Amino acid sequence: MEKVIFDTDPGVDDAMALLFLHRHPGIDLIGITTVFGNASVETTTRNALFLTERWGIDAPVAKGAASPFNPERTQHAFPTFIHGESGLGGIDIPQAVAREADPRPAHRFIIDTVKANPGEVTLIAVAPLANLALALQEAPEIAGLVKRVILMGGAFAMPGNASLAAEANIHNDPEAADLVFTASWPVTAIGLDVTTKTVMTRGKLAEIAEEGGEALHLLNDLSQFYMDFYRHRVGDGMVVHDSCACVYAVAPELFETMSGAVRVLTDGIAEGKTVLKPDGMRFGPSAWDGHPSQTICTHINAPAVLELIRTTL
Ligand code: BDR
Ligand code: CA
Repeated sequence: MEKVIFDTDPGVDDAMALLFLHRHPGIDLIGITTVFGNASVETTTRNALFLTERWGIDAPVAKGAASPFNPERTQHAFPTFIHGESGLGGIDIPQAVAREADPRPAHRFIIDTVKANPGEVTLIAVAPLANLALALQEAPEIAGLVKRVILMGGAFAMPGNASLAAEANIHNDPEAADLVFTASWPVTAIGLDVTTKTVMTRGKLAEIAEEGGEALHLLNDLSQFYMDFYRHRVGDGMVVHDSCACVYAVAPELFETMSGAVRVLTDGIAEGKTVLKPDGMRFGPSAWDGHPSQTICTHINAPAVLELIRTTL
């Protein structure tokens, strides 16, 4: 079983991804770390505690960064029009939940857990990357101890969703993302190039809920608001961005990839843009030189990914 720390900002599509990780037999979910993004870190942490309580997930939850890695960066507004004021659509969530967060900040939890399991931990990050950047800053040696990083983020050959150039997770924390892509650990980016092809229809999710019992009813209820947002963009359903990254962890054969150094633009009109310099490309000296070759996903077998999500949930 693959040991996974899930770095997340729940978040409606994050909630589905969390349940996928919990239910997939190949995954050992050993920790959940939260960060600002779809809502404040107080809210995303409360949501992670709420979901883990309701779904019987006993992995510890550690609260992470409240703001971007670069303290000078102005934080963007939370996308309440996509994930709702609560971060989990329109459902009722108690203000306080019985479960408590781990006493350590998320980046410390990551460092401790990676050092206790050298070479074994996969970080699946589906949110702004401040926690990973803080962990790298405090303990750069963890880059050599993490098995791999799989992240949902970036838009390589298509427009962004938070700006023309940038995908939301990268847009929210470009400096953190650049640090993560240029660190000496293997990174695979699952960006909008593939996630936007992967739409679960409202009818399919309702069907899964009918078959899947109480946990799936909750997932279906909390997803309605998000699907209303996506109705005019992708038809009647939801883009399952974050679940795509989790599927990659267990079924990489459902994706096509390219490799090369990746940098993130941290200012200018294309701030937050992720740019790959393909391996073997002949080019003059550039800011991509000397950085590790990473992997980005270029194509996805969307029907097979959606079917794996259905059977796993
Ligand atoms: C990403 O941004 C967030 O809103 C989603 O949860 C996902 O991680 C998609 O761009
Ligand atoms: Ca997310």
